[in-house]
Amino acid sequence: MKAVIPAAGMGTRFLPATKAIPKEMLPVGNKPVIQYVVEEALAASADEVIIVNSREKKAIEAHFAPDAELEATLRGKGKDALADSVAHAGSLPVSFVYQDEPLGLGHAAHCASEKTGNDAFYVLLGDVIVPGNEMLPRMKEVSDAHGGASVIAVLPVPEEEVSRFGVIAGVEVEPGVWKMSGIVEKPALEDAPSNLIVFGRYLLSPRVMELLANQAPGVGGEIQLTDALEAVMAEEEMYALVISPSEGYDTGTVESWFATNAALMQG
Ligand code: UTP
Repeated sequence: MKAVIPAAGMGTRFLPATKAIPKEMLPVGNKPVIQYVVEEALAASADEVIIVNSREKKAIEAHFAPDAELEATLRGKGKDALADSVAHAGSLPVSFVYQDEPLGLGHAAHCASEKTGNDAFYVLLGDVIVPGNEMLPRMKEVSDAHGGASVIAVLPVPEEEVSRFGVIAGVEVEPGVWKMSGIVEKPALEDAPSNLIVFGRYLLSPRVMELLANQAPGVGGEIQLTDALEAVMAEEEMYALVISPSEGYDTGTVESWFATNAALMQG
């Protein structure tokens, strides 16, 4: 299965830090966030890791390109461990497609449609870290158990926070697995169907890609992935895997990035 990593957004919530540095390149420890995401996709045996990039965010491509000169300089100084880390980042197999304008997450995912073709595919948000690398394999298990259905990861949050996220409706069919009946982007508190928010890892059927091709803009004028998920549920089953806060970390705001560094650097 191919893995699509959208990373072409503007990162406005982290300005001015993200004026010249992509938010996916901000460090957690000694690695940029997006390297964790690529490594997670590879750990899940993705056949190809496709980063959806903006043409303005060249630093992402530079990070995954080999740098023989830097490596040789480090080796010349006896700094082999650092040279190895540089060589590793430059050897990770990633490919790039471009989103020319940040028209929304759904639009970004669709930019990889020629590569995903008629197959199911993973989507991993480029600013979300899953340290244990276990989430995608568990989602795959749920999908396999339900005839290849789409599966998304969801996180329970305090009710007053739901209005900032995509929120699912459905029923729990086994511990920690919900059969979904709906999904809504940034609902008003009184309209939220649950406290389970869409977290940033998706295993999606190829029908989602087809629907995205004609998806109209939704909340915020953006082409929303959640709208295509709502549409596909009229045709296909979809499931949600409930995760716990320690399984994944958003880094898209100053507060969440700081909390992620604090949590991951403790161990
Ligand atoms: P976010 O909504 O967190 O990213 O999307 P953003 O739009 O860059 O952030 P703000 O709201 O302006 O601060 C999650 C992921 O999807 C990508 C982002 O780069 C991020 O990694 N994305 C988002 C795209 O690739 N294209 C888009 O049009 C929107």
